[in-house]
Amino acid sequence: MFNILVLATRNKGKIREFQELVKDFPVEIRSLADFGPIPEAVEDGETFDDNAYKKAHFTAKVLGLPAIADDSGLVVEALGGAPGVRSARYAGEKASDADNIAKLLKEMQGEKNRKAAFECVISIAVPSGPALTYEGRCEGEILEEPRGSDGFGYDPVFYCPEYGKSFAELSMEEKNRVSHRGRAMAEVAREFDLVLKWLAQRLTEEKPPKPDHEQFEHNDWSEEVMVREVK
Ligand code: IMP
Repeated sequence: MFNILVLATRNKGKIREFQELVKDFPVEIRSLADFGPIPEAVEDGETFDDNAYKKAHFTAKVLGLPAIADDSGLVVEALGGAPGVRSARYAGEKASDADNIAKLLKEMQGEKNRKAAFECVISIAVPSGPALTYEGRCEGEILEEPRGSDGFGYDPVFYCPEYGKSFAELSMEEKNRVSHRGRAMAEVAREFDLVLKWLAQRLTEEKPPKPDHEQFEHNDWSEEVMVREVK
């Protein structure tokens, strides 16, 4: 019986949030931070689904353990779905949140249709490839100018009709209740006993998972980090 699920992220906020959600289930949550400098998946998919699966499957394959990953971003109707999977680097590879917001507001200048949504896909994969997928969506509008100072990313320019406020004006609890990630995570948590059963079944059906050393060699990582085991 497996009892470890790796969260394919180093983001401390996401790790804490997920650990809290599944704290009553018989599973240990680890994150990439527990494994040292291991290679990470390249997020070059065309959809949130592609990227979430890539991250989850790559991590599962490399570590020989089931893994869970999410991918999310902002989708703006008048911009044909942009920034979408390029949300983090909309204004360039090293763009800051402020750069991305400035570019978005410029693109939306004079635009009447302000409809937008945050979307999140969560993928849970086993080393041999099969995966479960969960989705969450939060609809809103792009404001004419930033409002509020909490949150991150596009929060100050995303108006949430449920609260009549921008995401950056909400407390963490308020945002989690309606956000794309909150909704996708709630779905996972609601079905988590089934997820654990599915994982246990997949893992007994396939050969015992082993860390994929080829991935490490291919990525030129040293012997030292190749076989770090989870204790
Ligand atoms: P990630 O997939 O969670 O890393 O998100 C990718 C990018 O989408 C982030 O860098 C943000 O620009 C944007 N994004 C995702 N979720 C949110 C959110 O809840 N608020 C604001 N921006 C977000």
